[in-house]
Amino acid sequence: MNTLTLPSYAIHLGDLRESAGDWLRGRNYSKIAILVDENTAQHCLPVLLEKTGLENFHLIKIAAGEQHKNIETCQLIWRQMLAFGLDRRSLLLNLGGGVIGDMGGFCAATFKRGMDFVQAPTTLLSQVDASVGGKLGIDFMQVKNSIGVFQDPAAVFIDADFLKTLPYRELRSGFAEMLKHALIADAGQWQNLIQLENLAVPDWLPFILHSLRIKQGIVETDPFERGIRKALNFGHTIGHAIEGHALESEHPLLHGEAIAVGMIAESYLSHRKLGLPMRDVEAITAYLNRIYGTFQIEKSNYPAYFALMQQDKKNENGQILFSLIHPIGNAVVNVACNNEEIEAALDYCRTSGR
Ligand SMILES: NC(=O)c1ccc[n+]([C@@H]2O[C@H](COP(=O)([O-])OP(=O)(O)OC[C@H]3O[C@@H](n4cnc5c(N)ncnc54)[C@H](O)[C@@H]3O)[C@@H](O)[C@H]2O)c1
Ligand SMILES: [Zn+2]
Repeated sequence: MNTLTLPSYAIHLGDLRESAGDWLRGRNYSKIAILVDENTAQHCLPVLLEKTGLENFHLIKIAAGEQHKNIETCQLIWRQMLAFGLDRRSLLLNLGGGVIGDMGGFCAATFKRGMDFVQAPTTLLSQVDASVGGKLGIDFMQVKNSIGVFQDPAAVFIDADFLKTLPYRELRSGFAEMLKHALIADAGQWQNLIQLENLAVPDWLPFILHSLRIKQGIVETDPFERGIRKALNFGHTIGHAIEGHALESEHPLLHGEAIAVGMIAESYLSHRKLGLPMRDVEAITAYLNRIYGTFQIEKSNYPAYFALMQQDKKNENGQILFSLIHPIGNAVVNVACNNEEIEAALDYCRTSGR
């Protein structure tokens, strides 16, 4: 059992038997509700109940998927919270991926001006990314995470056993954030990760812990994203554009799959703008291609990518700003790149085996 102690809460890593069970019994919550989606109800709830012995709780079950991360689903959740008679001394336990964590946390943080919630993330993405940083929220008017709050959970419980039922593509998607953490902050960990020839990892926990420490360090230095926290956007400026565009196509990409393409393009930009050696760009490209396979970028999509990048949250004064790396393990934020440079990066991606 490992515990990562943050200023206002702790992240407990390891078997839920040793963490969540005692923690829950030690608190005097008036009522406990568990929020699940249809998949985590099937795959994760039995594991949670068996490991924690939790018996008296209300279950709130919603449909799975990002398309349900909206105000209508929040209303459904709040309605059930009211119907169950939850009050400010109750607890909401969010059991699921980032959608459940973000939306459940938002519902709890706003219910009667705020009640406790805990996160039990069940995807690799939510374990390494969504469980630190206090960002909660929902999508609104087709804009991702446009309504939300910053609020810390009472605790986070990470049990890698949940990953056993996670579909491979979802696992791989979360792995991209883990690679990103290494690329922006820890060259040694990057070297360790690229030793993994595939994702049949017997024990994810040490990797998750390492990744969380990196994110925690960054978030603690800059909780409200005024400076260095932007480093976490490496791969995301071009990645989000590719993700957004693919969403409308017949072959939508998962977030991490798009970020993998984005990291290739932005490594190339790191070469152009900061002098990251080309051999590093090529090593990054080779590993990402190996894990994520080929995604065909079409030149005809460039205008759509540019239109999407123009809307990036980080932009200032109409300039597209990037978070890049140089050397590997060090991030440089607020690097303005012009259209010719971005196009060259997309061209590199298009011709580098993708
Ligand atoms: N708050 C943050 O800092 C932060 C950071 C990164 C991402 N996010 C948010 O997280 C969301 C993406 O998270 P996600 O990738 O976890 O998506 P998700 O919650 O939609 O989960 C992905 C899929 O896996 C299923 N699933 C989850 N756990 C499972 C398990 N153990 N076994 C089988 N199936 C399982 C889910 O039902 C879903 O179908 C996005 O909405 C994103 O905005 C938030
Ligand atoms: Zn991401």
